[in-house]
Amino acid sequence: MTDHEQLHQQLIDRMVIGGSLRTEPWRRAAAAVPRHEFLRGGYFRRVAGPQFHSAWEPVQAGDADWLEGCYADESLVTQIAGTIVPEDIRGPITREPTSSSTLPSLVLRMLEDLQVEDGHKVLEIGTGTGYSTAVLCARLGAGNVTSVEYDERVASRARAALGRLGTYPTLVTGDGLLGHGAGAPYDRVIATCGVRTVPHAWIEQTRPGGLILATVCGWLGSSELARLTVHEDGTASGRLLGGAVSFMLARPHTPPPLGLLPDLDDGKERETAIGTEVLENWSSRFVVQLAVPDAQRLTMQRDGRTEDVLVDVATGSWAAVYSEGGRWLVRQGGPEPLWDTVEEQFGSWCAAGAPTVEEFTVTVAPEGQVIRWRP
Ligand SMILES: C[S@@+](CC[C@H](N)C(=O)[O-])C[C@H]1O[C@@H](n2cnc3c(N)ncnc32)[C@H](O)[C@@H]1O
Repeated sequence: MTDHEQLHQQLIDRMVIGGSLRTEPWRRAAAAVPRHEFLRGGYFRRVAGPQFHSAWEPVQAGDADWLEGCYADESLVTQIAGTIVPEDIRGPITREPTSSSTLPSLVLRMLEDLQVEDGHKVLEIGTGTGYSTAVLCARLGAGNVTSVEYDERVASRARAALGRLGTYPTLVTGDGLLGHGAGAPYDRVIATCGVRTVPHAWIEQTRPGGLILATVCGWLGSSELARLTVHEDGTASGRLLGGAVSFMLARPHTPPPLGLLPDLDDGKERETAIGTEVLENWSSRFVVQLAVPDAQRLTMQRDGRTEDVLVDVATGSWAAVYSEGGRWLVRQGGPEPLWDTVEEQFGSWCAAGAPTVEEFTVTVAPEGQVIRWRP
């Protein structure tokens, strides 16, 4: 065995033992795809950056630990700030990742959750490096796989990597939120970028009885994987699968710039029973995010204390929450009292016994998406 074959086998074994790789057809597909072929352009490793920031340092294909990193069960960032790839820079950079190779155990967990059968046609959104596309092709045949990537440079690297392995699925460069009508109907749609709401195009392009697997994310940074069944009436419904799955947001779903902040002194202050701990816990943050989906969070030092601020830039509504003398206080301004909405939604979730996300249902209709616990 060569070095990469040995590392590849160890990764497969770890995914089987860890339970993400559960069935023989997917084990064979994962074993057929060498991940390092999709990372020949290098990747970025997280390093300590300036205060409060992570920085990213390039690891190039020739570097000593490059190959080992390719077979670590970790997400590997391959593009930063929408344009920068590892070979573009030397030394660390402090900007946000915009493309990556998802950790293999999550790729395989999702492919298992997709419940494919032989001959199924699959639409993938978010080609990235092409690694997950290649695993899909190994399982279903490239003729049954369509993958859409938003970023031209990322798409062309994926095309080259897939081509090097002799794999030729339908690769589309464009906004995957629109699906790819030319290849419809699909049996399955899988998204490896997060969405705030499942786009209706995906439902229209999936046959009745088909499945959509996507991570529902939001601007407060909590997210969960949803599996929806498409119905004859053009709606789709299903459940959240749990596991705190997180993905970078689909580019058109990223939050707008904060712009000029509202005057955070010009608000009404009162005591609140709910402190900012609801924003720390993953599940309660998901509940809060459902209550105020257009709010973004920032943490500020003001008047010698830490304030957590929620701002809805579209309406100008805001709420600043902080602790003082052992009590939680909130100051709110703008047309919508954001923290009142948070208290109401969080209170009703607690009153229902704080159901786990696996008890939540998701329904998507042309009018929009609704997520509820215990219908
Ligand atoms: C986490 S990466 C995908 C990982 C990939 N499946 C792999 O195995 O390497 C997410 C990708 O989604 C892409 N993306 C973001 N928004 C998109 C959109 N609206 N349509 C298609 N792709 C999108 C990003 O450019 C990024 O390459």
